[in-house]
Amino acid sequence: LTIYLFINPSLCLLTFIVGFATIFLQLQFSPLYLSIAPYFLLWPLQTTEPPIKCERNFSASKVTGFSGLPLHIQDFLFYRHCRYFPMLLNVPNKCGGPQNSAHVFLLLVIKSSPANYERREVLRKTWAAERMQYGKQIRTVFLSGTSGDGYHKMRLNKLLWLENREHQDILQWDFKDSFYNLTLKQVLFMEWLERWCPNAHFLLNGDDDIFANTDNMVEYLKGQSNGDGNKHLFVGSLAFYLGPIRTRGSKYYVPVQVHESDRYPPYCGGCGFLLSRFTARAIHNMSQSITMIPIDDVYIGMCLEKAGLKPESHMGVRTYLLSVPSQKIDSLDPCHYRDILLVHRFHPYETFLMWHEIHQDDLKC
Ligand SMILES: *[C@@H]1O[C@H](CO)[C@@H](O)[C@H](O)[C@H]1NC(C)=O
Ligand SMILES: *[C@@H]1O[C@H](CO)[C@@H](O)[C@H](O)[C@H]1NC(C)=O
Ligand SMILES: *[C@@H]1O[C@H](CO)[C@@H](O)[C@H](O)[C@H]1NC(C)=O
Repeated sequence: LTIYLFINPSLCLLTFIVGFATIFLQLQFSPLYLSIAPYFLLWPLQTTEPPIKCERNFSASKVTGFSGLPLHIQDFLFYRHCRYFPMLLNVPNKCGGPQNSAHVFLLLVIKSSPANYERREVLRKTWAAERMQYGKQIRTVFLSGTSGDGYHKMRLNKLLWLENREHQDILQWDFKDSFYNLTLKQVLFMEWLERWCPNAHFLLNGDDDIFANTDNMVEYLKGQSNGDGNKHLFVGSLAFYLGPIRTRGSKYYVPVQVHESDRYPPYCGGCGFLLSRFTARAIHNMSQSITMIPIDDVYIGMCLEKAGLKPESHMGVRTYLLSVPSQKIDSLDPCHYRDILLVHRFHPYETFLMWHEIHQDDLKC
C-alpha cells in the first residue's frame, strides 16, 4: 500500500483527509473530547444567533466620580448596555414548542448560579418537580450564567451540561453570573420566553433558596378569574416607599451614577413572585426602552410602572415566616408551611424535609 501511495500522491491526500475526518468525528462524541474541549466547542452548539461580542462602553468612565466607585459598579456601568449574550444551553422544547406552550399552566423560573448544584437537585425532587398538579401542567427552568475563570469555569459549564443532559431544565447564557448581573439574567430570560414559551399561563419567578408550596400556587392561580393568564396578575411580597441604598458597603449599594432618583417604584421582593403571561409580556415590552439597573426586582417594578400595572401583596408570600425567633416555637413546624405560597430562605435539607412533612396524610394542625 505504501508503495502504491508513493506512486499516487492524490490518493495519499484523500486517505489522509478521510482518516483525519474519522478521528475527528469519533473524538466529537467521546467523553475524552468533552473533558478536554473548551465549553464553546461542545457539539452541537445551540446558539440561534451569531455570537456578537459586547464591547465595553469606554465613555461610561467619564461620568463624575467614576474613579471613586467600587469596581463592581464601574464594571456594571461599562457593560450596562449589553443585552445580548449567546446561549450555551437551551431547552427549546421545554413548553412543547412555542405553538403548544399554552399547555403549560405554571412555569417555574428559578435563578440559580452554576455552583448551586445541591439546591437544584433538591428542588427537582420537591417543589420544582415537573408534574401534573390538580390537572395542570408544571414545568421548570433554571437560569444560569457562567462562574469563575479558566478551568474552574469550564468545569462548572460541564456540570450544567451534564445536568441538562439528564434533566433538560437549564438555560445558560455566556455572561458572568453575579449579583449585579441579575437584571441581565431576567432580561435574557424574557427574550427566551417570548421566543420559546410565549403562552404558558403563569410564571413563578424566584430564587433557588426559597421554599415554594407549588401545590398551593396552582390552586390559587386556578381560582383566579383570568385562569388562562390573559389578564394582569403580579403578586409577591410588596415593597413601597423605598429608594436606593446609598451606603457604600451595602450589597444593595446603588450610587447616583447608576440610579439618580431617590425613589424606587413599588415592587415585589425578588426572592419570589407570581405573574401572568399578560403581565410578563408587558414587562418584556417595557424593558426594551428602560435602562438596566442592577437590582432585578426593582427593575421589574420600573417596567410595571411604565406599563401602568400595579404589583400586589399576597399574604402567602413571606420574606420571613416568624418575625420573632423563639425557643418555644419550632420555626420549621410543617403546620406553618401548609398554607403559605412561598418563604425565604431554606437550606436544601430543610426543603427536602419540609416537602415530605407537608405531604404527610396524618399531618394534624
Ligand atoms: C456609554 O456611556 C455614556 C455615559 O454614561 C452614555 O451617555 C452612552 O449612552 C453609553 N453608550 C451606550 C452605547 O450605552
Ligand atoms: C456582567 O456580565 C458581563 C459579561 O460576562 C461582564 O462583562 C460584566 O463584568 C458583568 N457585570 C458585573 C457587574 O458583574
Ligand atoms: C409594546 O406594546 C405596544 C402596544 O401593544 C406595541 O405597539 C409595541 O410594538 C410593543 N413594543 C415592543 C418593543 O414589543
